[in-house]
Amino acid sequence: MNPSSFLSLIPFFPDQASSFAFEVDLFYLFLFALTGFFTVLIGVAALYFLIKYRRRSKGEVPEQIEGHLKLEIAWTVIPFLISMFIFAWGAKLYYQMYTAPGDALEIFITGKQWMWRAQHPDGQREINELHVPLGRRVKLTMTSEDVIHSYFIPAFRTKTDVVPGRYTMSWFTPAKTGTYHLFCAEYCGTQHSGMIGKVIVMDYPDYQAWLRGVPREKSPAEAGAQFFTSLACNNCHLDGGAGRGPSLHNLFGTDVKLANGSTVKADETYLRESILNPGAKIVGGYANDMPTFQGLVTEEQVAMIIQYIKSIGPGQGAATATAPRPAAPSSVAPAAPAARPTERPASERPAKPGAP
Ligand code: CUA
Repeated sequence: MNPSSFLSLIPFFPDQASSFAFEVDLFYLFLFALTGFFTVLIGVAALYFLIKYRRRSKGEVPEQIEGHLKLEIAWTVIPFLISMFIFAWGAKLYYQMYTAPGDALEIFITGKQWMWRAQHPDGQREINELHVPLGRRVKLTMTSEDVIHSYFIPAFRTKTDVVPGRYTMSWFTPAKTGTYHLFCAEYCGTQHSGMIGKVIVMDYPDYQAWLRGVPREKSPAEAGAQFFTSLACNNCHLDGGAGRGPSLHNLFGTDVKLANGSTVKADETYLRESILNPGAKIVGGYANDMPTFQGLVTEEQVAMIIQYIKSIGPGQGAATATAPRPAAPSSVAPAAPAARPTERPASERPAKPGAP
C-alpha cells in the first residue's frame, strides 16, 4: 500500500502507525547506514595501514609527508556536505512535526504525577488512554499540573515534553488502526515508569461510536463559559469594550495592542498568562485591575476558559473538532456555531452564552 512496507519488515522497529513514521525511520536508517559505512571504512583502512606501513627494521626512519592539499579539501568538503544534508533533512522533518496544521482535531492533554488526562473537544474525557480517528489530523495541546513529563508514542514517532507553566504542541495523522503504547519519557518521580497508557486508533465510524458511548460531560468551551460566569470574569469583560476589562469576543488569534506599545498575538499562551498573571501584558487603554487567578483554577480549567474564549473568537478552535460530527445532541451556544463548516465563520457571530 505504501513504500513503508519494506521498513516495517525490520523486526526491531515499532509499528509505523502515523504519517511521520516512515520518514523518521528512513532518516534513522540513513544515519545508521552512514555510521556503519564510515565505521567499516575507517576500521579497514586503519588495519590495512597498520600492516602495510609497519616498521620493518630496527633503525627504520619513516619518510616525512608535508601535507596534501587535495586530500585535505576532500576530507573537509565531503563531511561538510554530508552533515549539511543530515541537517537539512532533520530540520525539514522537525518543521513538519512541530508546525500544527490549522484544521486538526484538538485534544487537550494534562500530565500529572502520575497519569495522563485527555479532554476531547466535545467534552469526553479519558485517563491514560487516547482514542483517535484513523487518517485525521490530531493536534495535542499539552501542559502539566506539576513537573515536566514527556508524551511519547513510539508507534507515531512523536515525543514532546509536557511542561508546567506553558503549552506545548504535538500533532500526527494516525495511519494504522490498533492499540499502541503511550509512555512518559521524562523522569518525573517514583511512579514515572507507571505513567503509561494506550493510544487507540479507530476507523472513523468506530471512533464516532466510541465518542457517543463515552458519557459526555460539558464540552470544554461550555464548561469554560460556566467558569467565566462563576469566576465573575463577565462582570468586567463586557462585550463591546464598555467594561473595566477588554472585550474577549473575536479576540482569539488576533493581534493585541498592549499598553507599552508592543503587540502580542492572542494565542493560548497569551490567554493563559493573562489569567494567571494578568499584570504581565496590559492591553492598551486598560488599567492593571485584574486579580490573579493563580491557585484558584487548575490547568484543565484554564484550558476550558481558553476554549470558551476561542469559541467566541473569529470561528476557530473548537470549529474543526466538531465539524465532521452530525449535530451534537446538546451543543449549546459557544461550540455550536462551529458545527457548521462555513467558509468565513468570522462574519457569523455566535450567541453569547453566560456573558451579559
Ligand atoms: Cu511523567 Cu515520567
